[in-house]
Amino acid sequence: MVNNFFKTLLCTLSILSYTNGQTNYNELFSLHEQLITIDSVTGNEAQVTRFLSDYLENRGWTVEKQFVSTANDGQVRENIFAHLGNRNPAIVVSSHVDTVPPFIPYKLEGDKIFGRGACDAKSSVAAQIIAVEELLIENPDLDVGLLYVVGEEKGGQGMIKIPELELAPAALIIGEPTENKLILGHKGVMSFSIESKGVAAHSGYPELGRSAISQLLSAVISLNSIIFPAVDSTLGADTINVGLINGGVAANVVPEIATASGTIRVATNTTFVWDTITKRIGSPQGVALTLHNKYEPVKLDIIDGFETGVAKFNTDFARWKGQGKNYLLGPGSILVAHKPEEYITKSDLVNSVDLYIKLIDKIHQELQLSSKAPFKSKIIEQL
Ligand SMILES: *[C@@H]1O[C@H](CO)[C@@H](O)[C@H](O)[C@H]1NC(C)=O
Repeated sequence: MVNNFFKTLLCTLSILSYTNGQTNYNELFSLHEQLITIDSVTGNEAQVTRFLSDYLENRGWTVEKQFVSTANDGQVRENIFAHLGNRNPAIVVSSHVDTVPPFIPYKLEGDKIFGRGACDAKSSVAAQIIAVEELLIENPDLDVGLLYVVGEEKGGQGMIKIPELELAPAALIIGEPTENKLILGHKGVMSFSIESKGVAAHSGYPELGRSAISQLLSAVISLNSIIFPAVDSTLGADTINVGLINGGVAANVVPEIATASGTIRVATNTTFVWDTITKRIGSPQGVALTLHNKYEPVKLDIIDGFETGVAKFNTDFARWKGQGKNYLLGPGSILVAHKPEEYITKSDLVNSVDLYIKLIDKIHQELQLSSKAPFKSKIIEQL
């Protein structure tokens, strides 16, 4: 109750101060809008990284661009790393600038901001930058860097390149839609395909053939009925989804080839999952199961004073090789990400700025990076 009251008050004050322009919440909404307005579907990130690097350079950041790949249309895809003089900052704040397709333009309706990336993850990017800029006003020595990567939504090409930057932060914060909760851990992921090879025949003489579709369906049903004999105490159960199926050439032909593919969300570990599956499925005639890639689940760090949760989706932490503390936090819900109605509420966006300020400040204190008094958000002071 008290907590909710506090939240509502905080939110109201934030929006009030936004509307009378006393804090930089104008800048938050404007930056968020500009980011959404730029189409940055994976592979097409050049314009958004150019925008962000100009934005940060204009505010005194030194921006390094890291080549990731050349897209099919010839555009150069780059990660950006921004620092304030120390090339190896103790705290790195990060997210991704690419989005899933299709591009959806910005639209404001009441308290909701719609558009592709509105929550995943342009709200994290905007809130992080505003939070760090606000912290820097009070504590210009804050030892922080900003890292914005491409390609997170498709194979993580951006993060795979990051080790070449040789960063070794004591803490990395990644922004993803976690409903403003600090995440205890997130699941790993495995992608697989099933190929079923049968024998073609005229449908009048099915006994002369062997249906690749029937074989495939049996395999899919077996997969879906697996109950894994172990769960993880934080992340729960491993789950399987067959998301794509293909097969046959015509209704009156016994099909020779059928394929399916899917993903497993891994709570335990990939070895355990794959062993269980291969044992249960066995080796039925004509059916081959192939594993394409795998990422182990990730356990993350938390700090007192935050609401916590777990995530069933994968993030760039799966590809991060650093040895420091790892924090995952961001505004918005994964349940609307990737959907046509993707949105974020203004109040979630505003609250996340305060949460990032609080998180960075607490990490700073925990790491004893500063002898200065703890930073207080202007909004919290008003209370
Ligand atoms: C994998 O998970 C299983 C089941 O929870 C467990 O018994 C096993 O020790 C784990 N292996 C590794 C390498 O973590």
